[in-house]
Amino acid sequence: KVVAVIMVGGPTKGTRFRPLSFNTPKPLFPLAGQPMVHHPISACKRIPNLAQIILIGFYEEREFALYVSSISNELKVPVRYLKEDKPHGSAGGIYYFRDMIMEDNPSHIFLLNCDVCCNFPLPDMLEAHKKYGGMGTMLVIKVSAESAHQFGELVADPITNELLHYTEKPETFVSNLINCGVYVFTPEIFTAIQDVSTHREDRANLRRVSSLEALQSATSRTFPTDFVRLDQDILSPLAGKKQLYTYETMDFWEQIKTPGMSLKCSALYLAQFRLTTPHILAGGDGIKSAMIIGDVYIHPSAKVHPTAKIGPNVSISANVRVGAGVRLISCIILDDVEIKAEGDYNAKLGITILGEAVTVEDEVVVINSIVLPNKTLNVSVQEEIIL
Ligand code: GDD
Repeated sequence: KVVAVIMVGGPTKGTRFRPLSFNTPKPLFPLAGQPMVHHPISACKRIPNLAQIILIGFYEEREFALYVSSISNELKVPVRYLKEDKPHGSAGGIYYFRDMIMEDNPSHIFLLNCDVCCNFPLPDMLEAHKKYGGMGTMLVIKVSAESAHQFGELVADPITNELLHYTEKPETFVSNLINCGVYVFTPEIFTAIQDVSTHREDRANLRRVSSLEALQSATSRTFPTDFVRLDQDILSPLAGKKQLYTYETMDFWEQIKTPGMSLKCSALYLAQFRLTTPHILAGGDGIKSAMIIGDVYIHPSAKVHPTAKIGPNVSISANVRVGAGVRLISCIILDDVEIKAEGDYNAKLGITILGEAVTVEDEVVVINSIVLPNKTLNVSVQEEIIL
C-alpha cells in the first residue's frame, strides 16, 4: 500500500500570496478552474495501490471540509485534512500525524508540497525509488543558475543518482539542480525525523546542566524539539549516505508563491488538460457559445454571452456572468464575478485576476491587475492591485 501526504501549510505561511487569499486559502485558489491542491491530488490517483491521501496544514478544518468530502467521492479514494495545532515544519508535520499516515501499514509514503506546479510523475518516481533502494527519492529539475538560489540546491551522482550534497536556498551558488518539493519515502523517514528531535532534546538537556553563558545563548536560536524541517534537518545531513536519491524531471515545473505565478501555472495546467482531458476545456463539448481562443476553462454554472471573446489562458469560476462583447485575455475570474458590457465600448480584461463577487461595469478596461473580492470597478485600471 502507498499513502500520499500533501503539505498545505497555513494562513501565516502564504503571506506573499496575500492579496489573493483573503476569501480562499491559498491551496484552494483556482488554477485552470481547479483548486491548486486538486492538481497534486489527481496525480496521486495514478499511484498504484494508493490507500489514502492526507492533507496536513494549520488552516481551520472547516475551510477544507467541503472540498475534501467532494474530492473523496469523486476519486473514490479517502482524502482527509488533518490540522496541526501549530506549525511543526515540513518534516515535523508528517511526524506529528505518523500514526494516521501508518494506519494502512504502507510500504511507501509520497510527500508533496502543495505550492508547486508540475505533472507529478509519481508512478515513475516510485519505480525509480524501488530500483535505488534508499530511504527516499526526490524529484529534481535543472533551472537557470540565476533562479536556483530560491530553492534547495543539490548535487547528485550522475551515474547512481544518489543525492551527494544538499543546501537549502544557499547564498552562494552550489548547483542549478534544485529540489522540486515532491518526494517518496519508506516509513524509515519517521525514524530519521525522530532522531533529529531526540538529538535536539539531548542538546537542550546538556545545556540545562551547563552554566556556560555561550551555550545558553545558543538555546534561544534552536527550534522546539518537535519542529523539524525536511530540507535543512533531514536532506542536508543525510546527503551522501546512500539513503537519498534523485529523479530528474524534464517536464514543466514551477513554484507558486506569488499571485503572478498563479496565472502562469493556470496556463500550464490548462495546456496539460488540452493533452489529457480536452473535454473539460471550453469549446471541447461542441456547444456553440462565446468565441474561444486557445485554452479556456469555463465553469458549467457560469453565463458567458455568445458575443464575448475569451482566451487564451482564461479560467472562469462558478456563477460568473460575462456580458456582451466582453474581451478576456489571460485571466482568473473567481466565483460570482459580474463583467457587464452594454455600451458602445465593451469591458476588456487582460492578464488579470478578479476576486470573488467583483463587478466590472461596462466600458471598463482592466489590464495586468489583481482585484480583491467584492469590488465594483467603474473606471479602467492598469498595473494595479485594487485592495
Ligand atoms: N502542514 C505544514 N506545517 N505545512 C508546512 C509547514 C508546517 O509547519 N511548513 C511548511 N509547510 C508546507 C508549505 O505550505 C509548502 O507546501 C511546503 O510545506 C514547503 O514549504 P517551506 O518549508 O516553506 O519551503 P519552501 O516552499 O520555501 O521551499 C521548499 O520547496 C521548494 C520547492 O517548491 C524547499 O523544500 C525547497 O528546497 C524547494 O526547492
